[in-house]
Amino acid sequence: MLSSNALYTDLSAYYDLMCCDINYLAQSNMAHRLQQLLGNGGNNHLDLACGTGPHIRHFIDYGYQCAGLDLNQPMLDLARARCPQANFMLQDMCSFTLKKPVDLITCFLYSIHYSASIHSLKQCFASIYTALNAGGLLVFNAVAKDKICNLSAVRHSAQFDSSHFIFESGWHYRGEGEQQALKLSIAKTTANITEVWQDQHTMVAVSFAELQALLIPYFDVHMLAHDYDKITPWDTHSGNALFVCVKRPS
Ligand SMILES: C[S@@+](CC[C@H](N)C(=O)[O-])C[C@H]1O[C@@H](n2cnc3c(N)ncnc32)[C@H](O)[C@@H]1O
Repeated sequence: MLSSNALYTDLSAYYDLMCCDINYLAQSNMAHRLQQLLGNGGNNHLDLACGTGPHIRHFIDYGYQCAGLDLNQPMLDLARARCPQANFMLQDMCSFTLKKPVDLITCFLYSIHYSASIHSLKQCFASIYTALNAGGLLVFNAVAKDKICNLSAVRHSAQFDSSHFIFESGWHYRGEGEQQALKLSIAKTTANITEVWQDQHTMVAVSFAELQALLIPYFDVHMLAHDYDKITPWDTHSGNALFVCVKRPS
């Protein structure tokens, strides 16, 4: 098992291929509309755990001044190449500081779970609160530990440079404790020879009730369905949700 930082150093070259079925445009557009509806309307944006910067690319196109924060330098190098207009910083999202607060903070692809423990997640929300301007907005997606099905996985394939790739990912929660695992596998076939790469790393596990309790001291919290095409309240059953959090006055 690799640390998540070593993992993303390994993965960085394949990361965009692995995520080629993710609709980054729809996610960014949803966060932008929510900022217009519920946030302070400002255009300073920070993407936490920004990876190779696919969301930042869209926010720049919407007219935001963007910054990206990530713990992994190879991922940040790819993000900088994709978005030369943005500022990038190598920091841990659980204890970060900004020179100037921003209006909108996003954190997608369940990356908020990279906070290593509930204690770190609390510190992450405290850092986000300090980093937001008055009325600023936090938008992130999360998975509820008690709704994880250990048998289900997401699978897709892609063709690149005369190789065929099969990517698979799935959550695993052992039913107790504050850790869940993300299981990843990549199978690369070139000229009938298949190489398989597998990893499993731990992330923080929370129920949605626990997550809300952590957020409430800092934010007015809206839970939406995990649907980037329309704004719909969370149905109280689904294990995935979009959290939209408006900074409370201090
Ligand atoms: C699944 S990728 C998501 C990247 C991007 N948000 C996306 O939607 O494609 C997770 C990213 O989180 C970063 N990461 C992991 N732990 C972190 C931490 N404690 N602070 C900041 N970034 C972290 C990794 O380096 C990686 O780039």
